[in-house]
Amino acid sequence: MSHILSSVAWPYANGPRHIGHVAGFGVPSDVFSRYMRMAGHDVLMVSGTDEHGTPILVAADEEGVSARELADRNNRAIVEDLVALGLSYDLFTRTTAGNHYRVVQDMFRTVRDNGYMVQEITRSAISPSTGRTLPDRYIEGICPICGTPGARGDQCDTCGNQLDPTDLVNPRSRINGEIPEFVESTHWFLDLPALATALGAWLDEREASGTWRPNVIRFSQNILREIRPRAMTRDIDWGIPVPGWEDQPTKRLYVWFDAVIGYLSASIEWARRTGDPQAWRAWWNDPDALSYYFMGKDNIVFHSQIWPAELLGYNGQGDRG
Ligand code: MF3
Ligand code: ZN
Repeated sequence: MSHILSSVAWPYANGPRHIGHVAGFGVPSDVFSRYMRMAGHDVLMVSGTDEHGTPILVAADEEGVSARELADRNNRAIVEDLVALGLSYDLFTRTTAGNHYRVVQDMFRTVRDNGYMVQEITRSAISPSTGRTLPDRYIEGICPICGTPGARGDQCDTCGNQLDPTDLVNPRSRINGEIPEFVESTHWFLDLPALATALGAWLDEREASGTWRPNVIRFSQNILREIRPRAMTRDIDWGIPVPGWEDQPTKRLYVWFDAVIGYLSASIEWARRTGDPQAWRAWWNDPDALSYYFMGKDNIVFHSQIWPAELLGYNGQGDRG
């Protein structure tokens, strides 16, 4: 009998649930968790709505409501649907929960204090007509990697590569078509190169365990070769405040920095609700516990690099350890 963590992808609260959620991670994680429970294992199945980041802002802007109103409404609709479907989550929470904020800020502070966050000056886009910052997703252009037009500043949906808005060829604002102006802005970057050796060793263990699909392992090991520091803060006023930058409310933690921490914060919240606040440790601190993640394929990078790198940095297990 083992402790099995069933970590289910967090749907964005920028719209109601759709069939892709149900087919992609809802049914697979539910069947898996029910089977493992019947086989006598201690399963903890957690998830919630992913409520920060530009997708929520874009949807809220389009509707003329605040990000919080939109997230509240979609969280309710998603929860109702998942409950009605009978999915057997132990806890389905939200990334706007106070507990999540505390866990994420603690993770950030510790990773930073361990030396795995570095400050870099970036060029960030603003709208010349309004002076407001233009988040990555509001910018589109030609993908520098595959040449497809209509790639967004954060990612190209055609080739799946993560992008920076400054990489785009012929960038334009999606709001009004104007050419964005790039200004200097300081951000915190996760020092992935300083964690690459530890990350590589971790991936090799996953490979040896035979539990990952070969193409996912290969893909993850390949991107490690050219790994660069990655920005974990954004010029945006919706998201978790950056510890130490409380005086700069227009900079927040990057949505993916916080979303993946949800698996941990939800486990902690679940434990507190059961009346045994330390109970989560059986899934997180015991080396014999097993973790399974259910997600779509465009989430691989975040789960095979960003999330393990955050944990390694938190535990001080990189080159600065
Ligand atoms: N919201 C993301 C998506 O829909 C998934 C986040 S999974 C996470 O693609 F748990 F890592 F947050
Ligand atoms: Zn592309």
